[in-house]
Amino acid sequence: MTAAASEYARGLVFGSIDARVEISVFNPLISAYFSGSSATANNAMMNKSIITDFPTQLASVAAEAESLLKRLLGDAPLDGEISRPPRLVAAMRHAALDGGKRLRPFLLVETATVFGAARAGALMAGAALELVHCYSLVHDDLPAMDDDDLRRGRPTVHKAFDEATAILVGDALLTLAFDVMARSEVHADPAVRVALVAELARASGLGGMAGGQMLDLAAEGRFEPKRVMTEKEIATLQAMKTGALIRFACCAGAILGQADATARASIDRYGTAIGQAFQIADDLLDVEGDARTLGKAAGTDAAAGKATLVAALGTMGARARLKELIAQSDAALAPFGTKADSLRAAARFIAERTT
Ligand code: IPE
Ligand code: IPE
Ligand code: MG
Ligand code: MG
Ligand code: MG
Repeated sequence: MTAAASEYARGLVFGSIDARVEISVFNPLISAYFSGSSATANNAMMNKSIITDFPTQLASVAAEAESLLKRLLGDAPLDGEISRPPRLVAAMRHAALDGGKRLRPFLLVETATVFGAARAGALMAGAALELVHCYSLVHDDLPAMDDDDLRRGRPTVHKAFDEATAILVGDALLTLAFDVMARSEVHADPAVRVALVAELARASGLGGMAGGQMLDLAAEGRFEPKRVMTEKEIATLQAMKTGALIRFACCAGAILGQADATARASIDRYGTAIGQAFQIADDLLDVEGDARTLGKAAGTDAAAGKATLVAALGTMGARARLKELIAQSDAALAPFGTKADSLRAAARFIAERTT
């Protein structure tokens, strides 16, 4: 699809453009979205003040997450650690620092705010979640997985270092995440921390992200002859490989805020909807984006024979699905009123993002 056709399709789905916001923030991945042609929103879907605040809020969480991650990836061994091998810690910093939109920490902090939980603990939990996400990217890019050379505008970890180091970076980021999530800085009540650790484990592992990655590779036809997957099968795969961590980000805010079961169920519905939307947007960008803007290679899904909803529904169909998912996320947030405005803005960012 040409750039003009793609803009036209975007306009059909998201409505005409009447609120352009030009905002410069320190994070290039965030500012690319807000200064680009899709830094626009239909006022019928979202009022201008919400989108005006959103980039500032996202940039602020991104900066706070960055400094926390820097601290967590220091040279000095912690109690119980024997030493931190310099090559491993350098490669972990390459994977985790100085890049990324930090959307998962943002969602965690903002849902925690909706439920009145302390920001410092939410940021710590958000840093733990970001460590899992960064590990998933390092392994996703390995030659045995998606075999990508570029990530966040830099060489992937196995390119900048080597494959064995990249495997160990993943191992060490994942375990560090659980170390961090178990710390008292996350929440004073150990029962809350145990709930977070248990939910993060479920979201990351066999029945979550790692399981979804298995289904993603299987869908390429690597292990058995390739077959056409149903939409439902693709949605399940995506809910696992990508949706699970995004949904966790939202549910974790509710856990930190010790929200009641009804509120948790609403946030769960929101997290599930935006998790699906996130991967559809990622798959659209793989078709329509370019490596310079994305900071990762484009056009790789079709080349690898990935099962995506864009392949199944076409780009227009995928955009229509995105619109439905935004409506679902709005419906889920209705009980929270204006307190959830930043989450409403986040859903739109996810659907319309350019990076
Ligand atoms: C990319 O995630 C990988 C997917 C789950 C589709 P992001 O788009 O959040 O990547 P960063 O963290 O901003 O680099
Ligand atoms: C990756 O999905 C999901 C995880 C890393 C778990 P993709 O393979 O589509 O992500 P990108 O496009 O490489 O970022
Ligand atoms: Mg992949
Ligand atoms: Mg990939
Ligand atoms: Mg992708």
